[in-house]
Amino acid sequence: MKYDNDLFLRACRKEKTERTPIWIMRQAGRYLPEYRAIREKSDFKTMVKTPELASEVTIQPVDIIGVDAAIIFSDILVIPEAMGLDYQMVESVGPRFDKVIKNHSDIVALDVDHIEEKLQYVFDAVKLTKEKLNNRVPLIGFSGSPFTLMTYMIEGGGSKNFVKTKQFILNYRDEAHLLLDKITEAVIKYLSAKIEAGIDAFQIFDSWGGVLSKPHYLEFSLKYIERIVKEVKRINSEPGIVFSKGVHHSLKEIADAGADVISLDWTTQLSCAKETTGGRCALQGNLDPVTLYADDEVIKTEAKRILENFGKGNGHIFNLGHGILPSVDPAKAKLLVDFVKEESRKYHE
Ligand code: CP3
Repeated sequence: MKYDNDLFLRACRKEKTERTPIWIMRQAGRYLPEYRAIREKSDFKTMVKTPELASEVTIQPVDIIGVDAAIIFSDILVIPEAMGLDYQMVESVGPRFDKVIKNHSDIVALDVDHIEEKLQYVFDAVKLTKEKLNNRVPLIGFSGSPFTLMTYMIEGGGSKNFVKTKQFILNYRDEAHLLLDKITEAVIKYLSAKIEAGIDAFQIFDSWGGVLSKPHYLEFSLKYIERIVKEVKRINSEPGIVFSKGVHHSLKEIADAGADVISLDWTTQLSCAKETTGGRCALQGNLDPVTLYADDEVIKTEAKRILENFGKGNGHIFNLGHGILPSVDPAKAKLLVDFVKEESRKYHE
């Protein structure tokens, strides 16, 4: 066996495992004092662009929390930046783009020809992290979905109602598709090069697909995710995880799009998702991240409910339904990981 612990990869492929693997979205981050110690000395973008620092914080949750997979420390916004839209990460505000997409000529000006050169620092971070991990656990790579990236490129930062993005797709449908096409092309190059650099699986974070109506989700988000998954998997065997938050209305369509794993938020049940997808995909999730503020016994009860709901059998990767929140006590994350590792054994006998 290539890895000391390959439970995560086996679960992605719905192969037999002796327990349920677990990792946590946004596991390398501010809830860890060890992350904050490094972050105090460098700003966020410097950390992302310095392979030594990125690899160090990537491995922290493996050592400290005991997760079954690492996810490369980076951000989804490296893609818009490489395409020519620079951003700042403003303390306690979030990302702010200097320039936004407003019209056809802004889209034409976006560069997709130099993605691999511009993002060489990510591939270097992947290579260094693989060396340092020394096959202890697999390494996940990720990208934002074209639609989620488009929201940042149009809104210029985070948004509550996505008015500019929705206006754009309603009033400039052809331009919206042209923009999504260009982002998709960039993401395919990016994920392919990341696999080449050594990642063992890839996750597409579609954090905002759920703000769209179903027809718009299918037309402006899933269609492009499908293109990415199919194109990347045409030449690579690494499993692809699709996380479209808030889209229980389209789980069957996500399975049809070729996802190996569907990552679910906490508002749907794994048992329903299993039924809807006909058991074709592995499922990842789906504890409400706020549960980690509860008492220890309550955390265990809620985690048990999820294991029970998935039931006996393979193809479940335990995770939160979205990223871990920055003010969570790391001891609670560790408690969850330890509990799932032990409690899940009986579902794999
Ligand atoms: O999962 C991991 O541990 C890998 C690291 C990771 C980060 N961002 C690091 C990060 C991943 C997978 C992301 C993805 C990401 N980035 C998403 C999609 C996932 C999701 O949560 O929906 C989105 C929407 C972004 C964009 C982004 N990055 C925002 C809106 C912000 C500011 C808000 C926030 O959470 O602070 C970031 C910053 C960011 N990305 C931080 C980290 C650790 C915090 C930066 C800091 O140290 O101050």
